Amino acid sequence: MIDPHGGVLVDRVFSVDEASDLRKRVSEMPVLKLNDRAASDLKMISIGAFSPLTGFMDREQYEGTVRDAHLPGGIPWTVPVTLTTDSATASGLREGDEIALLNGDGEPAGTLLLEEKFEYDRKLEAREVYRTEDEAHPGVANVYSQGEVMLGGSIRAVAVEPADVYAGSDRPPAETRRIFEEAGWNTIVGFQTRNPIHRAHEYIMKCALELVDGLLVHPLVGETKAGDIGAEVRMRCYRALLEAYYPADRTLLSVLPAFMRYAGPREAIFHAIMRKNYGCTHFIVGRDHAGVGDYYGTYDAQHIFREFDPAALGIAPMMFEHSFYCKSCGGMATAKTCPHPGEDHVFLSGTRVREMLVAGERPPPEFTRAEIADILIEAEQA
Ligand code: ADX
Repeated sequence: MIDPHGGVLVDRVFSVDEASDLRKRVSEMPVLKLNDRAASDLKMISIGAFSPLTGFMDREQYEGTVRDAHLPGGIPWTVPVTLTTDSATASGLREGDEIALLNGDGEPAGTLLLEEKFEYDRKLEAREVYRTEDEAHPGVANVYSQGEVMLGGSIRAVAVEPADVYAGSDRPPAETRRIFEEAGWNTIVGFQTRNPIHRAHEYIMKCALELVDGLLVHPLVGETKAGDIGAEVRMRCYRALLEAYYPADRTLLSVLPAFMRYAGPREAIFHAIMRKNYGCTHFIVGRDHAGVGDYYGTYDAQHIFREFDPAALGIAPMMFEHSFYCKSCGGMATAKTCPHPGEDHVFLSGTRVREMLVAGERPPPEFTRAEIADILIEAEQA
């Protein structure tokens, strides 16, 4: 089994007793309310998905991440994991305090041992992490909307029951690792997606699965941008697709409760590191991975892997070119394997697919399986 990033799988989830003790103590503690993104990060840290991080970043970790894409000590890390607040709230919190972190309903979600409060440069983060200062970029807009003070320190978290839609499919890293071990899989490829699975996705996953023992279909189900299809509908699509077209003994569907940053190349590395923590040895990176608009080149998220020591990263990328159905080949292909001209290729823009679904029209089966098209049409028309 592959080692977690940094060597040890972090576990910072409160036991049942500790959680009930926190509920009793909370009225005497300084409190801070978390937004959905911070609550997602809290969960991800606590279950070890962000190993070796044990909390929200302190200044040294944050600056190492932003400027150098490595944590102090030289471990690759490309995306900030930070908790921010406004100056007025921050001035009421003292370094050394144990702060109760509250969820959207005002219930205790965990604690932060505040080790450091510090200010940061938003534009620098935007430029280095997102490669643009444009506030129209959803990840950059998020950075610009944050409070001006970062709160660094280790966390503990109360375990959260997954929503019904994820029941049985929201497995923490310790559990996916156990499943892989029991299945006897030595090599496992992880697949990130924030979309319904189309034929191109299916093709690259299956090409990858030809070369390894197991496949972790690992859709991201935290916050995505407006216009992306909601996780509930996607879950129905994933279940239907896997049932009809994937080998049950070589495929595991589980969710990644992280939110999208849309940081393209930097996020591709981050996505790979998380999947390593879940026990994957390989990770699929296709065209414009984690991209948005035209901020990144089609293969920038593949090129960035060259900038990292493969041993320090520890998980191997499996890179795929833009895939499509070719009418002359009579199957899925890429420019690497198909000699035919563009007019033979079935290509539909995201906008065109959306228009068809809204109109109740199935996109061609060369683009989307009929089972998936039907679920998407029903969801659009609901
Ligand atoms: S992402 O933001 O999660 O990357 P998406 O769900 O569209 O977006 O993609 C999931 C994975 O499939 C990514 O690795 C992406 O690069 C890859 N991918 C998506 N469409 C294609 C395609 N037509 N050809 C090759 N790879 C693709």
